[in-house]
Amino acid sequence: MRLKGKVALIAGAGSSGPGMGIGRATSILFAQEGAKVVCADINEEAAKETLRMVRERGGEGIVVQGDFTRSEDARRIVETAVSTYGKLDILHNVVGIATPFGILETSEEDWDAVVTTNLKSIFLMSKYTVPHMIRGGGGVIINTSSAAGLTGHPSANYSATKAAIINLTRSMAIELAEHRIRVNCIAPGFLDTPMVAPIMTEERRRILEWMIPLGRLGTAWDAAYGALYLASDEASYVTGITLVIDGGLLAGRGIGPAKPPGGMV
Ligand SMILES: NC(=O)c1ccc[n+]([C@@H]2O[C@H](COP(=O)([O-])OP(=O)(O)OC[C@H]3O[C@@H](n4cnc5c(N)ncnc54)[C@H](O)[C@@H]3O)[C@@H](O)[C@H]2O)c1
Repeated sequence: MRLKGKVALIAGAGSSGPGMGIGRATSILFAQEGAKVVCADINEEAAKETLRMVRERGGEGIVVQGDFTRSEDARRIVETAVSTYGKLDILHNVVGIATPFGILETSEEDWDAVVTTNLKSIFLMSKYTVPHMIRGGGGVIINTSSAAGLTGHPSANYSATKAAIINLTRSMAIELAEHRIRVNCIAPGFLDTPMVAPIMTEERRRILEWMIPLGRLGTAWDAAYGALYLASDEASYVTGITLVIDGGLLAGRGIGPAKPPGGMV
């Protein structure tokens, strides 16, 4: 019960397909650890499925539908959370989208959609949440970057926003420290989630497993446990950091594991 008595807003609590996305796994885990979870998502059905899983395991929460890139929705989601549970202790900005292309193939519309969804959503959700955290004497914000924010990546707009999230996190951390609000981000590597399922061929999986020193793709639970640590009081002296959860991918980038399988290099 590492989050007993806390209220957590999970912004992106659904999942872009059947199965376990990061927001879904985190909602379940936070609820199991004693938090009341506010499951917010643009996809109401996906958020309802998350809440069903939360309740199935004895947890408590509500669903709020909305688009985090729209100011009025972001404000309404936060106000609903506070009017339901009286306070807000944790905000986890999970939402993120990607287009698979570099700058030559990316349309202006796609560029704007990725930048707005990945960056502006954090700005808006945090802007409306922070006053309630200040009133409550403190809080925790966890943003979601990516290993793609720490290195170049074929999806230029995705990579650029995920790098920006790391510095947005640092800037928010120093701005909000005086209010006892800690701000950190997680940077997952390759996770086996519904978001990547459409591009995951067997060949691609084999190459990734070779590139990742721990020899496997991660799961949404790996990210959720990282967020749980940052959300808990165990991390009370931790702010402004990027917690990389990548099976060693970035540590071994370009070289791969110590002993690549025959025929691969
Ligand atoms: N899956 C991975 O391998 C991986 C790796 C690194 C980083 N990440 C990051 O983790 C986060 C979650 O990834 P996931 O795989 O669980 O994704 P996901 O697509 O399964 O979940 C994202 C959720 O956000 C919701 N959403 C999208 N746009 C929205 C909007 N404008 N307003 C409200 N809700 C919106 C979707 O409906 C979906 O339920 C993303 O930020 C992603 O970039 C994922």
